[in-house]
Amino acid sequence: MKIIGSYPKTRLRRMRKSQWLRNLVSETNISSNDLVLPIFIRAGKNRIESIKSMPGIKRYTVDKLPLILNQVKKYKIPMVALFPYTPNNRKDMVGSEALNPNNLICQSLRLIKKKFPSIGTMCDVALDPYTSHGQDGVIINDKIDNDKTVKILVEQSILQSEMGCDVIAPSDMMDGRVGEIRKALDKKKFYDVSILSYAVKYASSFYGPFRDAVGSKSKLKKDKKTYQMDYRNSTEAFRETGLDIKEGADMILVKPGLIYLDIINNLKKNFNVPILAYQVSGEYSLIKNAIDKKILTNESIIESILSFKRAGACAIITYFALDIAKKINQIN
Ligand code: PBG
Repeated sequence: MKIIGSYPKTRLRRMRKSQWLRNLVSETNISSNDLVLPIFIRAGKNRIESIKSMPGIKRYTVDKLPLILNQVKKYKIPMVALFPYTPNNRKDMVGSEALNPNNLICQSLRLIKKKFPSIGTMCDVALDPYTSHGQDGVIINDKIDNDKTVKILVEQSILQSEMGCDVIAPSDMMDGRVGEIRKALDKKKFYDVSILSYAVKYASSFYGPFRDAVGSKSKLKKDKKTYQMDYRNSTEAFRETGLDIKEGADMILVKPGLIYLDIINNLKKNFNVPILAYQVSGEYSLIKNAIDKKILTNESIIESILSFKRAGACAIITYFALDIAKKINQIN
């Protein structure tokens, strides 16, 4: 890019002199349309509980979901991402609970489709909230078995679609699962169920608070580095994305968010699919704790979200979604 102009004829501060002018020339903006709110669901009735590692975020029993869904509707957030906190006695080696038509996700999907049909639903396809070892796949001879896991993920996707899930989000990083899921969904005529692939998911320590929120942290003995990506790499992100698009992914997710803006930007420049970013639990907790301690101000939330838009993400999954949507509503 050529640099045109020079001081004193050119004064860049001229375009920053007032709020209306800065608004006029702003290159990116955030609207509640760009947000996805993750929601944690727990078993039981009439309970809303705090999550220690994620201040301000709660787990809801299914009967209490309308409380938060009413807000999602009011503040015009298009989609929610559902995550279960599975009771220990429902976890096993192969994550059977994932295929229970009455599990927390299925119950929630039925409720949302019935009472909040205008809200989009996104469900993770992965076994970690359901396994007694906290891994995303089936363990055979001490290894996560790719193809056996994919078979279960396909069934999990069909079940979620039957319950009304709009967006299937494989978050497990097994090879070939997007293709197998698309094939199975089409066979069952779920042509309108879309696939948001966590194509670029790094083996990150920033998922810690989330694992606590879904109750897999204390279970997990080893890391997830044999399937999630190595954070030293970026070209690998292209291979993952290319393969998943070929296999039928409608949208691509990059995760974590803030520390992978280079990846989002590169993918945006090279692929013509919607790219979403996930501002993960560790990023949330860092910012939230700093705000609570008055080290940062609330504006740091919007600033962090806009960085995703600048990088090229069309939407952001963030635990701040409601805070941001409320703030936007105040301004408008
Ligand atoms: C499950 C899953 C994880 C997250 C979303 N889906 C954790 C993991 O892979 O261990 C992380 C989300 C967050 O940290 O906010 N596979």
